[in-house]
Amino acid sequence: MPGKTPNKTSGKTPYYITTAISYVNGPPHLGHAYEAISTDVMARFKHLDGYDVIFLTGTDEHGQKVEKSAIAAGKDPRAFCDEIAGLFRDMCTLLNISNDDFIRTTEPRHYAASQAIWLRLADAGDIYLGNYAGWYSVRDEAYFHEDELSDDPANPGGKLAPSGAPAEWVEEPSYFFKLSEYTQPLLDHYQAHPDFIMPATRKNEVVSFVSQGLRDLSLSRTTFKWGVPVPGDPGHIMYVWLDALTNYITALGFPEKGIEGREDVFETHWPADLHVIGKDIVRFHAVYWPAFLMSAGVALPKRVFGHGFLNIEGEKMSKSLGNVLSPAAMVEEFGLDPMRYFLLREVPYGQDGSFSREAIIQRINADLANDFGNLAQRVLSMINKNCGGIVPEPGALQPEDETLLGDATNLLAEMREAFEVQAFHTALEKMWTQVRAANAYIDHQAPWTLRKENPERMQTVLYVLGEAIRRLGILAGPFMPDSAAKMLDQLAVGEAARDFSSLGADARWQAGIELPKPEGVFPRHVEEEAAE
Ligand code: MSP
Repeated sequence: MPGKTPNKTSGKTPYYITTAISYVNGPPHLGHAYEAISTDVMARFKHLDGYDVIFLTGTDEHGQKVEKSAIAAGKDPRAFCDEIAGLFRDMCTLLNISNDDFIRTTEPRHYAASQAIWLRLADAGDIYLGNYAGWYSVRDEAYFHEDELSDDPANPGGKLAPSGAPAEWVEEPSYFFKLSEYTQPLLDHYQAHPDFIMPATRKNEVVSFVSQGLRDLSLSRTTFKWGVPVPGDPGHIMYVWLDALTNYITALGFPEKGIEGREDVFETHWPADLHVIGKDIVRFHAVYWPAFLMSAGVALPKRVFGHGFLNIEGEKMSKSLGNVLSPAAMVEEFGLDPMRYFLLREVPYGQDGSFSREAIIQRINADLANDFGNLAQRVLSMINKNCGGIVPEPGALQPEDETLLGDATNLLAEMREAFEVQAFHTALEKMWTQVRAANAYIDHQAPWTLRKENPERMQTVLYVLGEAIRRLGILAGPFMPDSAAKMLDQLAVGEAARDFSSLGADARWQAGIELPKPEGVFPRHVEEEAAE
């Protein structure tokens, strides 16, 4: 994927990353947390790697689905949206999400951008007035053709969308977008940009869908009011997906060149480098969105990544099953960083995954407490006891020291490669190969024996281990920001030396500095019953 040009003054390369914006029809659940955390890990990695990152998330507040939820809650839609949007903001704080902006589609800046993009599509001659008569699923906020639907066993004559959501028959005047004219341009784009849609399974689904030929898309609704008015014809509101997708450019100031304080940010940061979304909304992002942008004469995003769905103990999360897991409850029980680690390590990114208590406890105790936590604790305690709490001065390095340090130095390049394709689980596997290598090294070198036999060699071994842990601590930053910071505090690594520029081949842990008293970073998770 070709990158953007570095900024002339800062030397930093712009990077723009977004999550989907969540419907405010209910409070956030684990699926939303998964998307926010995984996008955050990518954003933090790029930030630490020296990019000028803008990370956007927010809420999607218009449309029939939200309006119906507000009515069901007996609330005015705006007040209802304020309340639920607040919960999504709180979730971002709770999960330590490093977003730079939080967009709400009910904000004036977003009305302005949505109406501006509408006018661009109209100016391009891609919008015409007609009548929509067909099926609509409110839960999906999507139109369906009869042949995409199945019969609803619970409702004779009723139809179900592929997601299982009921579809209803709708007839109303509507503006249409000439999506059919974008069939070939889209296919050409997919072919010319093989990484535009990832992972490959999602791309194949999109290509096969578009190859069948696209139908024009109904772009406005007249039978309810909760949306952005169509410019010049306020009896129509814009189809919620045109409104929602536009959020990605609203935040950069569209149709202007930038926003207050960053006057050229649209020019520097658009097109987005990465839209992170769930697999259920790939069609909107990989078909409609690029078609709208082509029509509006705006560059297309570089990549749309459709991650998998999280289930709970193998079952789909649903209100009716009563198994919807709240991010807050999970943080409360397991701690934030262990949860972040688990979500990214357990499920190969892009595939569906399952949350289970057993699996998270296993990861916390084996990977974090035993492998990584113990490694740091053993090394730091030995330095504390045997080197007066001062980073030891290494002597001449032996081949096995060089191997461990060399592998630790190569780790950044391996992790970068994994991050380039959003293979977060692979990046963590690589890290843990290094954690295990350091554990094998400590067992083999047995510094506790060297203490008497060869104290000088013990110092070298402890230094080499400390240096490997410093590198691991910095690389753990995107995944577990607080724990990584705690580990780096214990190694007396200053705030300014915690980004990836401190991982160069010549950058080393500073010998001779005093260390604080060591404290465990990754406690074991003990089940309540077992603890009694
Ligand atoms: N509002 C639209 C997105 C508009 S983007 C311009 C929407 N909202 S949503 O609240 O239903 O979903 C928000 C994100 O969460 C989507 O990317 C969706 O795929 C993701 N997830 C919702 N449930 C999920 C799981 N159970 N697991 C993982 N992600 C899931 O769609």
